[in-house]
Amino acid sequence: MTEIITAEPADAESYARAVTEATAASAAYYSGGDSRLDDATYDRLARAIAAYEAEHPTEIAPASPTGKVAGGAVPAGEVEHSARMMSLDNVFDGAELSAWAESLAKRLGGPVTSGYAVEPKLDGVAVAARYRKGRLEQLVTRGDGSHGEDVSHAIGTIAGLPEELDTPVTFEVRGEVLLTTEQFEQANLTRAEFGATPFANPRNGAAGTLRAKERPYVIEMTFWAYSGLPLEDGSAELAALPHSQVMEIVAAAGVRTTAATPVGLRTCASIDEVRSRVEEIAVLRAALPFGIDGVVIKADDPADQEKAGFSSRAPRWAIAYKLPAVERVTRLLAVEWNVGRTGVIAPRAVLEPVEIDGSTVTYATLHNPADITRRDLRIGDQVTVYKAGDIIPRIEAPVVQLRTGEETAIDFPTECPRCASEIDTGQERWRCVRGRECGQLASIRYAVARDCLDIDGMGQQLVAQLVASGQVSDFADVFTLDRGQLLALERMGEVSADKLLATIAAAKDRPLNRVFCALGVLGTGRSISRRIARHFGTMEAIRAADAAALEGVAGIGAEKARVVVAQIAELAPLIDKLTAAGVNMAEPGVPARMPGDDGGTAEARPAVPAGPLADLTVVVTGSMTGALAELSRTAMNELIESAGGRASSSVSKKTSLLVAGEKAGSKRAKAEELGIRVIAPDEFAELLGDLLP
Ligand code: IVH
Repeated sequence: MTEIITAEPADAESYARAVTEATAASAAYYSGGDSRLDDATYDRLARAIAAYEAEHPTEIAPASPTGKVAGGAVPAGEVEHSARMMSLDNVFDGAELSAWAESLAKRLGGPVTSGYAVEPKLDGVAVAARYRKGRLEQLVTRGDGSHGEDVSHAIGTIAGLPEELDTPVTFEVRGEVLLTTEQFEQANLTRAEFGATPFANPRNGAAGTLRAKERPYVIEMTFWAYSGLPLEDGSAELAALPHSQVMEIVAAAGVRTTAATPVGLRTCASIDEVRSRVEEIAVLRAALPFGIDGVVIKADDPADQEKAGFSSRAPRWAIAYKLPAVERVTRLLAVEWNVGRTGVIAPRAVLEPVEIDGSTVTYATLHNPADITRRDLRIGDQVTVYKAGDIIPRIEAPVVQLRTGEETAIDFPTECPRCASEIDTGQERWRCVRGRECGQLASIRYAVARDCLDIDGMGQQLVAQLVASGQVSDFADVFTLDRGQLLALERMGEVSADKLLATIAAAKDRPLNRVFCALGVLGTGRSISRRIARHFGTMEAIRAADAAALEGVAGIGAEKARVVVAQIAELAPLIDKLTAAGVNMAEPGVPARMPGDDGGTAEARPAVPAGPLADLTVVVTGSMTGALAELSRTAMNELIESAGGRASSSVSKKTSLLVAGEKAGSKRAKAEELGIRVIAPDEFAELLGDLLP
């Protein structure tokens, strides 16, 4: 496979290749076929082509996608549009948004009259729906913008686009047909039943379904309108109304509009307000029941719209603020099988690393073997991967059209990968027949290890002996072991037994963050455990917290909060046992934050001292030296947080400081590239002063 060009073409030949690649990709995109370019890659390619053309205006190829609706790749249909169906120009950040607003104001000779309407950019397929006397008569795709394809056969299968309205209106609504996440999952189940290949993603599913005529099954889709216009002599008043009011009229007639999506339609008075609304929508995006690829901003006032007019492909009074792609295509390299605490054997996909929504994705969850079979996944497949917010990435489907024939079947385990016992395959979720017991050893070993309770001397073999003899069934039992029990173990002398007892006694005083980490709550490693402990102060407060309270901890989203609350409830007997054994349940220096306590007044809730790293996000890389030489990463992170900072493991725009020791690699390079302050361990130690252990 040739490499995909996304940098500005260097010469006429690579420019020609770039144009061919872009045209093929957008043809596939608009027809529901599959392309090897995902959205983000296509956008980069289109920009590279435009940059070359700006410098070589005499060489522009007739087939160039620049300035054309749908990149010029879609054949015209047979139905003429009532008015041209345009594309939108894109902006990718706040500065570009401001530049657009300024150029609009220049055209208007002043600011917009009645603000901007801000609504989601739905990631589906554009259609025009013609209602005559309240009846949906015709459904037309966008096509080349002036002529579209008649897809009226889909009428009756699209939620939100009723066949019959309550009032006998005649108008045309335009909007986006898509598959919600639920409809997409259902669609692929249905397709599997009928032996059809799965849709690679919801957008593709909608495009394919809209055009399909004689399928033996029905796939339900959803519609949201984003504009309404007069048709023949009906609803002429629509042309003279602000966009937000047109949407109200369309909704009142019974058609679903962008205003009815969970993020709705807002009018914002200024571009600053627009920008913060875009940020809000970007955060809400992960929780939406369907995909959006951006936010659309429109001058609301019809006179402003008329004055601003259109370019060859897009209105000048509207703009799409593209959000980072949350779906990419990458290769499935392998499947790993992990055994959870309850013995559930869960597959995990190993992917060729791909950047999605600001982070590198290497793993994705796969639910169970049946799910793998249903999705017909194979090792080596190109797969669509979706990730938004802090939701764990998921594989949507293989891109079947991109198979080379070299893909291989995924091997399912024949015995428990952890303890080699039999597997109970009676249900969709496979389980080790030993259930919870299978995970016992692993969870005790995890709890006593260096990063958690740090019980030096309690090695793997000792844990195995204690479990085998029935003296220890969970890690709370470790705290009630007596000298006699230890001496009865193989190869345990008096000196070692006393030493071990002393370490165990010392471990009772570990800070809450380590005790909490030792519980092995799903989705909480060392750093989340520290944040939870510093937020709530005591185990009692953590147990009293509901999901909403947990979302107050940085890095915990709605999904994770629910999991943590459920897990803590499940772990209640173990926590009680630890408390009874005298294990510390408080974070030193942090007052308890109980429900209803919003942080409190200064008197009620003594402030945690701000510390030299207050409000800074600090990343540590490379090996530490000098006063910090002995500190593990966990200890470094504890130190950062005790100094008021936030410890993070990856460098991003949000990083304030990178502590780079010897052999610092890519993190250092990235920090330098982003202009983030980089300091050496010694300088950092000085900064922390007497906070050093
Ligand atoms: S307004 C003349 N609003 O995005 C105004 N378009 O990339 C044209 N789209 O062609 C469109 N959500 O198919 C508008 N809220 C929204 C939209 C939206 C999705 C689609 C539409 C358009 C494409 C441009």
